[in-house]
Amino acid sequence: MREVAVVGIGLTEFGERWDTSFRNLFVEAGASALENAGMSGDQIDEMFVGNMSGGRFVLQEHIGALIADHAGLTKNHIPVTRVEAACASGGLAFRQAYMTVASGMQDIVIAGGVEKMTDVGGSETTDALAGAADREWEGLVGATFPGLYAMIANDYIHKYGLTREQLAAVSVKNHRNGAHNPMAQFRKEISIEAVMRSTLVADPLRLLDCSPVTDGAAAVILCPMEMAREFTDTPVKVLASSQATDTISLHDRRDFSTLDATVAAGRRAFQQASLTTKDIDLVEVHDCFTIAELCAIEDLGFCVKGEAGKLTEDGQTAIGGSIPVNTSGGLKSCGHPVGATGIKQVCEIVAQLRGEAVGRQVDAEIGMTHNVGGTGATVVCNILGV
Ligand code: COA
Repeated sequence: MREVAVVGIGLTEFGERWDTSFRNLFVEAGASALENAGMSGDQIDEMFVGNMSGGRFVLQEHIGALIADHAGLTKNHIPVTRVEAACASGGLAFRQAYMTVASGMQDIVIAGGVEKMTDVGGSETTDALAGAADREWEGLVGATFPGLYAMIANDYIHKYGLTREQLAAVSVKNHRNGAHNPMAQFRKEISIEAVMRSTLVADPLRLLDCSPVTDGAAAVILCPMEMAREFTDTPVKVLASSQATDTISLHDRRDFSTLDATVAAGRRAFQQASLTTKDIDLVEVHDCFTIAELCAIEDLGFCVKGEAGKLTEDGQTAIGGSIPVNTSGGLKSCGHPVGATGIKQVCEIVAQLRGEAVGRQVDAEIGMTHNVGGTGATVVCNILGV
């Protein structure tokens, strides 16, 4: 295995991007990553594109070929592959790119992700997202994603006595961080009261407990560490990239409010990097709903089960706290274009490690990402360091 570095990052602005198309979104992020690495498209050997549901959201399949064509990469006929694992599609695209470079198969590989979710109505979006759960046993009996995560939240509250204020504190902290991220969908601070007064979506989750519906794309460029300084003075090394799976349906789980795939992927990542949670300076976790952030912090091992609410309330997961979580604003405030989120998380960690996260910078040498598909059926973790 070769050592692998990230040498370029690119993001589009997240939000309702009615000004652009699905294919242009990806090309915008890819071109920005190429520019960031100071290289041209001709130097790319292979590309992986994370996308959950182009077929439902923009009626487009065959995403790899579409992107290769529109990005002008068909001249060299490079391999381009769509990767799908619901909301973990981006994280998985990154892992495929990492393995491709680490194995020596290719040198310069793009890992990207794209989703354009706002071109269809709300009920179509909710139904498409329900495809990330078990359609036969969950979706067809009416379970939506807010509904499934509400069940996780209720189980957690019942077991650990989480308060409504602690849950809201996750959203307040992520909106505070996102207010300083120029690419974020919601760049505004909110209060605990605003979360608690917002519309009830699936009890106990309210509008401001939910990640939004988002258009956006992200891309990163990987190459062998030994080539990295040809492209950047600040290569960021991939210290680990892990993946785990669990039952697709929530009702088959050992424990509703522990994501065993997060536990497994986290352990594998720490083992691969020979690190522990104490070595991690910041983490981007999959806060598709506020409760998901609390479960992730605990399941990755940053605190014991049941204590993440207090940790958040005490400011320990804020910038300046003992373990800053979701400095980008997370899925909650930055937005959640499902196929792109896992790559956006890597972009945020790389920007932080390079000291480029203006307005939300933390002092960091090692960062981690945690990307979840469905209610925890697929989890991808990455650890990056300088
Ligand atoms: N956070 C903050 N503000 C939000 C928001 C969110 N998640 N979602 C919508 N808003 C804002 C909108 O900007 C809008 O504000 P405006 O009136 O000032 O323009 C207002 O709230 C109403 O927006 P609307 O689009 O009508 O909301 P909606 O009721 O159609 O959708 C949710 C709200 C929560 C149902 C939707 O965002 C959702 O389904 N989120 C979860 C997505 C999901 O499941 N992802 C996969 C996770 S694994």
